Amino acid sequence: MNTIRIAIDGPSGAGKSTLARSAAGKLGYLYVDTGAIYRTVGYYAHTHRIDPKDEAAVTACLPEVTVELAYGRDGLQCMLLNGEDVTAAIRLPEISLCASAVSAHPGVRGFLLEMQRKLAREHSVIMDGRDIGTEVLPDAEVKIFLTASPEARARRRCLELEQRGMPQPYEKVLQEIEERDWNDIHRPIAPLRQAEDAVLLDTTDLDFQESEAALLSIIRERSGGA
Ligand code: DC
Repeated sequence: MNTIRIAIDGPSGAGKSTLARSAAGKLGYLYVDTGAIYRTVGYYAHTHRIDPKDEAAVTACLPEVTVELAYGRDGLQCMLLNGEDVTAAIRLPEISLCASAVSAHPGVRGFLLEMQRKLAREHSVIMDGRDIGTEVLPDAEVKIFLTASPEARARRRCLELEQRGMPQPYEKVLQEIEERDWNDIHRPIAPLRQAEDAVLLDTTDLDFQESEAALLSIIRERSGGA
């Protein structure tokens, strides 16, 4: 079976997951949120009091960790950690920085790489993350680098947290976004960067409908109208 692979990379809060999920629904492709996979490992470190920056300690715990991706009846992606559903827990703000820290370790990236590639071999996917177009699926049919200004991303994240009943001050959210951007861009392994053959989509001044229309139009154009 010929599968289509659509790689969407970009910084945190650029709207990748909401847009990618919605576009995948419209195209009938599987949506894979790879950030959730790193969050699951970050959550394991956090709950086991392992310093997420301690490469040796994090790498040593990996044999105890089974990360599985499942899809609920609503079609939404769920994350299982050693069989336990951690889908909601991995969204807590303190897990964001843990995920960013553990994702910098080569052992963690290697541990999760094959799982991501396997999904793309078995399904047509829209996969979002930081290194999908550059490392995970370098031969993806369509690559998009989705971004927005840090301020626009912080405003959207605040709104999202408020809607989930977990409001946070704007300044704190902006600071966390900038810290994560710095970590993700400057790590030596699989840093966040735009692949040479990726199309840049900046959503700073676009609302959701405009962003989705732009995304779908890039996908249709690049995948030959699939
Ligand atoms: O997309 P997110 O905010 O849920 O991702 C959480 C962290 O995981 C992010 O700070 C960087 C890391 N990540 C990564 O290194 N590679 C990916 N493909 C996806 C996420």
